[in-house]
Amino acid sequence: MNHFDIHSERLLLTPLGFDFLESVNEYALDYENTKYMFHLPNESSEETAAFLKGVEEEWAKENPESFEFAVIRQGRQIGAVSIYLEDGTGELGWIMNKKYWGNGFACEAAKALIDYFAEHFGVRHFIAHCDTENIASRRTMEKLGMARTGEYGGRMNRAAQRESSEYQYELNL
Ligand SMILES: CC(C)(COP(=O)(O)OP(=O)(O)OC[C@H]1O[C@@H](n2cnc3c(N)ncnc32)[C@H](O)[C@@H]1OP(=O)(O)O)[C@@H](O)C(=O)NCCC(=O)NCCS
Repeated sequence: MNHFDIHSERLLLTPLGFDFLESVNEYALDYENTKYMFHLPNESSEETAAFLKGVEEEWAKENPESFEFAVIRQGRQIGAVSIYLEDGTGELGWIMNKKYWGNGFACEAAKALIDYFAEHFGVRHFIAHCDTENIASRRTMEKLGMARTGEYGGRMNRAAQRESSEYQYELNL
């Protein structure tokens, strides 16, 4: 698929890939930055590189199902947002480098992603999940206008010693 960028007031969303290895490592290898995440932290830069290779391969497909974007602020990557399309539903994900938390960047990036995929891909239903203890992510979903529609146990975050629970949130446009 042709690569495309998404612009918001303060941010640029551009396809994630190998060029961002160093800035992805900054958050993907960090425990505090990833403790509520299902697939992170990565154990090594090699693991991040393998992930980014997969991201590039997905972007190269004619009809990708999964779109990963680097979030760029003033020329610097500050995080990433993603959307996975399945049966007309878009599953959202986000992570910001902890240096930039609390500035409204996650909400702004996710809102731009939702608006873009609604307009250009006709997506009307969005879903997202987070650990029930992940207050920042939960607040992000609520600020996006998403409603809580489920709570499930049995979540095993990669860095966790024990199972936790997760919330499901949904948005219908
Ligand atoms: C979740 C995350 C992406 C939010 O990024 P952010 O750019 O700091 O978020 P925003 O600034 O847009 O803030 C969103 C809301 O969360 C709140 N928030 C942010 N950090 C918070 C914290 N540590 N505790 C409580 N609320 C918090 C903000 O105040 C805001 O709500 P408010 O306007 O009602 O106050 C970021 O915390 C992060 O990267 N976490 C680690 C990765 C992760 O867990 N990703 C989600 C996996 S499901």
